[in-house]
Amino acid sequence: MKHILKTATFLLLLSFSGCYYDNEEKLYAEVSTTCDLTNVTFAASVKPILQASCFSCHSNSSANSSGAGIKLENYADVQTQAKNGKLMGSVNHSNGYQAMPKGGGKLTDCEINQLQKWIDNGTLNN
Ligand code: HEC
Repeated sequence: MKHILKTATFLLLLSFSGCYYDNEEKLYAEVSTTCDLTNVTFAASVKPILQASCFSCHSNSSANSSGAGIKLENYADVQTQAKNGKLMGSVNHSNGYQAMPKGGGKLTDCEINQLQKWIDNGTLNN
């Protein structure tokens, strides 16, 4: 009887750990397929991120009333904030910068890495 119980417990544990590993593999697969750092462009990567999390306060029309006059809609304005260090300082929540998005959750690692990649590639208007 004891032996059967032990075997049953063992099989139960085995099936749980099986699930656990399955999920982990799925998770890694999703992360690696959704975070594309090889084709980062202003139009397809940077602007959609800013649109989703920043335009409510930093679009051309909202900046003066809600975003301290800082505009992040047009390429040239984003480039200015990228080059002066404030874009990455704020999204990384670095010391000496206002943490952005203000009042919201931090951007995902993937989004932050894509912004950084665009800067590393030379803040191109692509
Ligand atoms: C709810 C409104 C709001 C949202 C959303 C928001 N900001 Fe801001 N942002 C502000 C305000 C207001 C300031 C002026 C400083 C302050 O009051 O914190 C600011 C300041 C900044 C600055 C200057 C930071 C500094 O240290 O000088 C940058 C860069 C910036 N925001 C980028 C962003 C980015 C990038 C996002 C999106 C990821 C974003 N903001 C989302 C309202 C917002």
